[in-house]
Amino acid sequence: MVLLGIETSCDETSAAILEKKDDRLILKSNIIASSLPLHTKTGGIIPENAAREQVKLILPVIQEALTEAKMKLEDIDAIALTYGPGLIGSLLVGVETAKTISFVLNKPIVPINHMVGHIYANWIDHPEIEFPALALVVSGGHTDLVILKKHGEIHLLGGTRDDAAGEAFDKIARLLGQPYPGGPFIDQQAKKGNPKRFHFPKPLIGSGDYQFSFSGLKTAVLREVQNLKKQNEQIDEQTIADISLATQTAVVSVLVKKTMKAAQEYNVKSVLISGGVAASQALRDALETAAKQNSIVFYTPSRTLCTDNGAMIAAAAAHMYKPVPWEDITANPELYFTK
Ligand code: KG4
Ligand code: ZN
Repeated sequence: MVLLGIETSCDETSAAILEKKDDRLILKSNIIASSLPLHTKTGGIIPENAAREQVKLILPVIQEALTEAKMKLEDIDAIALTYGPGLIGSLLVGVETAKTISFVLNKPIVPINHMVGHIYANWIDHPEIEFPALALVVSGGHTDLVILKKHGEIHLLGGTRDDAAGEAFDKIARLLGQPYPGGPFIDQQAKKGNPKRFHFPKPLIGSGDYQFSFSGLKTAVLREVQNLKKQNEQIDEQTIADISLATQTAVVSVLVKKTMKAAQEYNVKSVLISGGVAASQALRDALETAAKQNSIVFYTPSRTLCTDNGAMIAAAAAHMYKPVPWEDITANPELYFTK
């Protein structure tokens, strides 16, 4: 079966061609057009701007994905589509494009939850993942822990009460004068940081449940920066690196502690991470070490498959193939995991 995956939930416009052969997924192409330069100028995503850009990009991106896979639209068997959560204008670009292709060429559509797509990025390189699996989804909008009992059977254990991990990185980087997205910047800077200089709170680390909260961390960093300024201390390169490391340590400690607690409680065979923040080397390393200590196999997608892309949407549809008539599909910006 050959799938065309379409992803337009936030600032990326992506299309991928993925083939499923038995249980193996073969990625033929994965084209990702980012409107990042546009958002860097405005310091964050302006939804209207993102959607306007995506209207221009969606058809060329699909065409490029087909060309790279040496296929025509007629050759695909089905369309895998992100229908939520995300920005309504952005989601609509993908939804309307998919519906049109479905209507004109009579191709089935499999609607996919963007967050489930993130999790399934893991299956592209790892068909051997065993259930039950625990997935930590860490992106700009979500910090969720979910259990997968089998393909399509997904239960939410807990999520963020306020800011997501990626959102915290983005806001803290902005406070340090850096453009959106801040996660990669914090990740880079942290490597040069002095671990002894700053210590920020690790929100809810001992709460005993699977809730997350990162807005307090942002406030703690803001206070520290204000303090330094009051004392006429320069926010120089080393200070930025030190703050970045303390921020990263706080976020990674909470994520690792709660993930491993859930892994033990639910006796899982595999731990998976996904979402944009899963590109963080520090998080990947820390979770890998913790999983190994508990004899649990740890999986992570390759870096390009961590941030938003069409391949992960196609991968989810390949393992949860449930087509829905195009007339019944609507974008759902508030879509979440069910408890
Ligand atoms: O999954 P994603 O591409 O989009 C959403 O669905 O939100 O995630 C974007 C988030 C941003 O907050 C960005 O700062 C963060 O992922 N991110 C990172 C890294 N690369 C992207 N965070 C930490 N380290 C990275 N290397
Ligand atoms: Zn995402």
